[in-house]
Amino acid sequence: MKYNIATLPGDGIGPEIIDQAIKVLNAIGTKFGHEFDFQFGITGASAIDQVGNPYPDETHELCVKADAVLFGAIGDPKYDNDPKAKVRPEQGLLAMRKKLGLYANIRPVSTFKSLLHKSPLRHDLVEGADFVVVRELTGGIYFGEPRGRSEDGTKAYDTCLYTKEEVERIVKLGFEYAAKRNKKLTVVDKANVLATSRLWRETVQGMAGDFSDIELDYMFVDNAAMQIIQWPKRFDVIVTENMFGDILSDEASVITGSLGLLPSASVGTLTSVFEPIHGSYPQAAGKNIANPIATVLSAAMMLEISFNLIEEANAIRNVVDKSLEEGIVTEDISKEKPYKTSEVGDWLANNI
Ligand code: IPM
Ligand code: MN
Repeated sequence: MKYNIATLPGDGIGPEIIDQAIKVLNAIGTKFGHEFDFQFGITGASAIDQVGNPYPDETHELCVKADAVLFGAIGDPKYDNDPKAKVRPEQGLLAMRKKLGLYANIRPVSTFKSLLHKSPLRHDLVEGADFVVVRELTGGIYFGEPRGRSEDGTKAYDTCLYTKEEVERIVKLGFEYAAKRNKKLTVVDKANVLATSRLWRETVQGMAGDFSDIELDYMFVDNAAMQIIQWPKRFDVIVTENMFGDILSDEASVITGSLGLLPSASVGTLTSVFEPIHGSYPQAAGKNIANPIATVLSAAMMLEISFNLIEEANAIRNVVDKSLEEGIVTEDISKEKPYKTSEVGDWLANNI
């Protein structure tokens, strides 16, 4: 079968790591008899430079028409230190999320045995940790109106807003993930302070009866931040609102020592987007040293979630495990004997 993949390399190391994912997907295509068609679009700072818009209409059309979107990274330091910049690369990401209806960001957090020594936490705390953060992605304080500055510039405000429907949609997905895994769902909120969090709790309480085989608990976000460090193995699926999910998923991603290796999916109403959780790492751009694994594993998530190609997705995960065991890794993992980005990609493709 033929699958159309809108491919958005973006900024920094984006193009290099996307190239490796394409090699790997093509190898999967050859082995399992599928055809992957990659159509390229611009986004992020490079799109601002070319057309003045970080998510141009042509890119949006490409994504809407595709079966799935494979995304590299966006961001450029020239915008980070300029709070007055009128257009920012991140706006492209937010516009894409909103326009494609990408309401759920799925970030699996798992350990790789060969990398446990890289974890900032004790070995016994992280070994076997395996959970998923399900982050609401198109609501909350990221998008609520009104937002802005007072006329004299001395006050600024953002609005955190959720509707019951938005909460139901994401929490349902959380329950479904829990059902497929270890049947435990933790709802993270700040219901002791925020009205939106109380709406979340009330909504979840109304849904719990339909998922009575799932063990459900509620946790305040400050406590969750602590427990992710203290006892990561207690979690199975975490579901939470946009900004809490932003913060907790970064925290979760480093505890396994695998930052740079973790994939993500943003599931949407029009299509879904698959991208590494790390950023555009501009210092490494063009040097052929960035770790392509997170992007390759994002491609595996795409095969599984968007195309239902489970065996193919597992073939990618297995070859990645093998590459880590055999030390075919980039310099962030091995200083002694580092391989180049493209060499890792070639090795993976050849070993599929
Ligand atoms: C992420 C990023 C984005 C976010 C930024 C780049 C807008 O941190 O995908 O987690 O805050 O959602
Ligand atoms: Mn983030």
